[in-house]
Amino acid sequence: MADSIFSSPIVFEKLDSTNAWLRTRCEKEPVGGICVVAKEQSFGRGRSGRSFVSPKGGAYFSFSLTDNIPIEYIPTLTILAGLAANRAIFALTGLETEIKWPNDLLLQKKKLCGILTEGCVSSAGVLQYAVIGIGINLAGKSSDFPPELQPVLCTLEEAGFSLSPKEVIDRVLYEFEILYDRGNFYRNMREITASYTRNLAYRGEFVSIIRGEKETGGRLIGVNDNGEALLRAENGNLIIIPSGEMGLRPKAENRPEKICAFSGNRTLSHPEKRVKEAIEKTVLSLADEGFIRFRAGGADGFDLLAAEAVIKAREQHPHLQLEVLLPYAEFGKNKPHRAEILKQADEVKVISPQYHPNCFRLRNEALLEGAHLLLFYNHQNSGGTVQTASMADKLGIPLRPLEL
Ligand code: BTN
Repeated sequence: MADSIFSSPIVFEKLDSTNAWLRTRCEKEPVGGICVVAKEQSFGRGRSGRSFVSPKGGAYFSFSLTDNIPIEYIPTLTILAGLAANRAIFALTGLETEIKWPNDLLLQKKKLCGILTEGCVSSAGVLQYAVIGIGINLAGKSSDFPPELQPVLCTLEEAGFSLSPKEVIDRVLYEFEILYDRGNFYRNMREITASYTRNLAYRGEFVSIIRGEKETGGRLIGVNDNGEALLRAENGNLIIIPSGEMGLRPKAENRPEKICAFSGNRTLSHPEKRVKEAIEKTVLSLADEGFIRFRAGGADGFDLLAAEAVIKAREQHPHLQLEVLLPYAEFGKNKPHRAEILKQADEVKVISPQYHPNCFRLRNEALLEGAHLLLFYNHQNSGGTVQTASMADKLGIPLRPLEL
């Protein structure tokens, strides 16, 4: 583009995170039109404090904007970025990705691209700067990624395309600029959101939208001109979900999803067989009570026994879902038994890329997110479980001890 708003990208061999770098830069002095690229990231950041694994070969970049955009349209920058990436991939490969609201790109339901928009608004409600970070998995195969990510992500190389980060980044910026229209995009929101909605993943399906502890379910209709998701509730009401820190997922068999979190000791204070039988029996009766999603922490002892009990219960109740939360990526990496369980989980979430002192606490908080019950084992003797149980209590989540 002849007079692009973006100056030549600043390219690093390696950064912790291009978003972090550019935010630090903009905190000193907000400047629009900067684009920073890293060939790899050691601490790529995703939404809700999650990590974005960024090995060499992918496209990882962030760019800054400082135009005076009406505040209500700031969240729609993410919509623009998603659509720009979707169009760029189509232009370069002919592949039609789906946009998982608000900002992931999926290829055959697997994540190809993630987008993180961060910004700073002054007390007068004026945008100081927005930093939009985009990560696209280009090279390698999903099997090159950590085991817990393998079932849920994909790369362009796997889809048969070998593209350089530079050509992909250039094209995304090109598409973004067209949509952005030097900050005037909001005058054209109807067309932008119509195009976005045409490419929306799970459109017409029942989904859950999760924001903090709140979960809303309904049929996904589309996106309105403010980039908000529109859901039709089962009673026919229209629900409007603002964009922000939230995730969307399709619902299992369209049922309202009841979540049970597990917390317990690593070292069992009863014979393993007894705990195993008790948890298996409990999971079956929770399934009868309508619990569908079960969340375990991934540690030895009770966590893994609980996860196995869910896997076993699926023989009778195939709709049950297992989610395993790991405090950090390498957690228990060399234990084949755990790896086997992770392979059978519907979702594995990694709280932090590396160990840090808060990662267990954050893992415990994530366990409780949107949970309808905490099933715990012997919490009196374990610091972590005591804390999780007390946190659940404060959040009003019912507690139930494992009955042996
Ligand atoms: C997500 O999946 O939740 C969003 C991921 C965003 C990743 C990109 S990679 C470039 C930029 N730098 C970061 O640290 N994150 C974004």
